[in-house]
Amino acid sequence: MKKILIVGAGGQIGSELTRYLRNIYGNSNVLATDVRECRDLGEDGPFEVIDALNATQLASAVARNNIDTIFNLVALLSAVGERNPQMAWGVNMGALINSLEVARQHHCALFTPSSIGAFGPTSPKDHTPQDTIMQPTTIYGICKVTGELLGNYYNLKYGVDTRSVRFPGIISNVTLPGGGTTDYAVEIYYEAIKSRKYTCAVPSDVYMDMIYMPDALRACVELMEADPHKLIHRNSFNIASMSFTPEIIADAIRRRIPDFQMDYYIDPVKREIAESWPNSLDDTCAREEWNWKPEWDLERMTDDMLRVIAEKVAAEKE
Ligand code: SER
Repeated sequence: MKKILIVGAGGQIGSELTRYLRNIYGNSNVLATDVRECRDLGEDGPFEVIDALNATQLASAVARNNIDTIFNLVALLSAVGERNPQMAWGVNMGALINSLEVARQHHCALFTPSSIGAFGPTSPKDHTPQDTIMQPTTIYGICKVTGELLGNYYNLKYGVDTRSVRFPGIISNVTLPGGGTTDYAVEIYYEAIKSRKYTCAVPSDVYMDMIYMPDALRACVELMEADPHKLIHRNSFNIASMSFTPEIIADAIRRRIPDFQMDYYIDPVKREIAESWPNSLDDTCAREEWNWKPEWDLERMTDDMLRVIAEKVAAEKE
């Protein structure tokens, strides 16, 4: 990776991945793009407003900047996707097809995130294997499985260097996720700091895989830098880091903020989605093929999240 373009850089992953990549590859070598103006991302490197659904705009930015690697991060998440499946398909697949085509025409490598949402109720629940039944029941998951298949197809048919990971729910403290089923695991930390209480929309005992953003960012770079000869899989690798329920994360917070309280107001859509996803993924293939290894667990992440968010909230009050 020398000249990188990020599509959808204003979102939860992109806002941090842009800075992470700029630190490694140089500010001027990472072009952040989003459908909306993002002033922050233009402060320390190039930024352009680009609609990922406009293939001409995307191709022009790639050609003008001699881009060799594209990160396509555009996605409507699982819960919001269920409110407008047609739009979710249009946005998620439109951005992906344009990224694949531009990558093919301009000889770029392409990273696209997949998700635990690519699995469904018929997949094995615990230690879900890398290669297994994938029959998701959300439009988000259907887009992810289709995206994985298309990524492999472009690799086999055209030799495009497509790579992907199936992200667990990503927990971060810079940009909030929006419309996902795993969002509760981010919101809970903000509410613990701001009001000492949180109302959770996901049932207390549902396990889902989660990952802290620093591990997620490192996974993107390590996979894209991996020796292609060692990759048996491409689209997409299971990666795992931690798996917990709402009660388990609430307990971790209570050990640090003893008066923290949590109650439940279950969102039936989120319940159905959460219950259809794996409890935990088996990431053996990622470990074997590109040495994936998580560095953060629930305890260490909870310390870090509460510290950073407390500082942010205090700064906002000043
Ligand atoms: N975080 C996503 C969601 O909840 C899953 O990849 O939709």
